[in-house]
Amino acid sequence: MPVADRRVVLMTHHALLREWSLGELRIPNRIVMAPMSTNRADKLGRVTTGLTRYLKRRAAGGCGLIVIESATVDSAFGSSGRTLRIDGDEQISGLRELVDELHETGAVVAAQLWHAGPRAEVKDGLPISPSGATAGMPVSRGLEVSEIEGIARRFIEAADRAVQAGFDAVEIHAAHGYLLHHFIDRITNRRTDEYGGSIQRRYRILADIRAGIRARSQRLPVILRLSLRPDDDSAAIGGAIQDAGFDGVDVRTGFSSMPSAEGVAVEAGYTLELARKLRKHTSQPLMTGGRILTPQDAEEAILKYGLDAVVLGRPLLADPDWVRKAAAGEEITLCVYDCEPSCYGRFKEGDDLHCVFHERRE
Ligand SMILES: Cc1cc2nc3c(=O)[nH]c(=O)nc-3n(C[C@H](O)[C@H](O)[C@H](O)COP(=O)(O)O)c2cc1C
Repeated sequence: MPVADRRVVLMTHHALLREWSLGELRIPNRIVMAPMSTNRADKLGRVTTGLTRYLKRRAAGGCGLIVIESATVDSAFGSSGRTLRIDGDEQISGLRELVDELHETGAVVAAQLWHAGPRAEVKDGLPISPSGATAGMPVSRGLEVSEIEGIARRFIEAADRAVQAGFDAVEIHAAHGYLLHHFIDRITNRRTDEYGGSIQRRYRILADIRAGIRARSQRLPVILRLSLRPDDDSAAIGGAIQDAGFDGVDVRTGFSSMPSAEGVAVEAGYTLELARKLRKHTSQPLMTGGRILTPQDAEEAILKYGLDAVVLGRPLLADPDWVRKAAAGEEITLCVYDCEPSCYGRFKEGDDLHCVFHERRE
């Protein structure tokens, strides 16, 4: 993709600003804020005023859909950061206050439901995965069938809490080397029972979660965020997603939130080709993101790759008004992306996520 001018006049860029639908939800434009962990939850995984302020700033900046950072469905499998929790009813009131604040801006808000699986830090024993140890992956133990059913229930109950907190949608996190990604990936899932083998079987836990959510909340839209490999069978995967009944799909790649950390080249729009392949085999709303920095690039992604929406992460750290400014033709503060120190590096050291380069710390 060409490097675009810093000054952007969106008069000729209509696709980004068109309304679209996710299930029965109407979303005012095609920019989705990517879920990004922020270290802003408190020690008990509850919403803080800092988290609310940071998200509301982005919601006020005009993002059509805000996907909140990953919230764990089982805090016994946590991570070192201050992560958000959605595994107990005591979290509902804080989440409701957050959603109410974001709704004041007109934003549509989704919760991301997440189980860290093999990447979890556990106090006793080992983290868990579908098949246990896999070369190059964290050491973990394989799951019994009864445990898998219990994990599906946790996702379903967490979705229930999201509904009680007023979220408009939920996203199931099956990307970046976490538990559900290890189920759908053909290398990490070596099970020979009903949860492994064919794509239909590897996607069974996702289908069970989707069906369980529908049984309780008929109309709640459910997005699937998944990591794909370039040589995955897009036709079969598209079929499995369609059969499971997800309302939208967000394409990612790799076993880390930061693919560059595992040596994946992150050129501009590095997930676009993967999304284009899946587009041919799925009719659901399709989105993707990764190093899409300017409105021109986002517009081009939608028009050339058949996307319904573009997902922006760090560009919205650098400029929370990205969408509003793009629509008004104002100059956007662009994400430098390869900066050092970086937002991700600082975040990993325990700092609140913020744009280090532009020193934005709201
Ligand atoms: C600090 C940080 C935290 C992230 N946390 C999450 C997360 O909680 N859930 C998730 O699915 N992806 C997470 N990601 C990945 C982002 O959602 C996004 O896919 C990635 O940053 C690429 O988009 P970008 O190039 O626009 O930043 C995180 C990324 C960063 C930089």
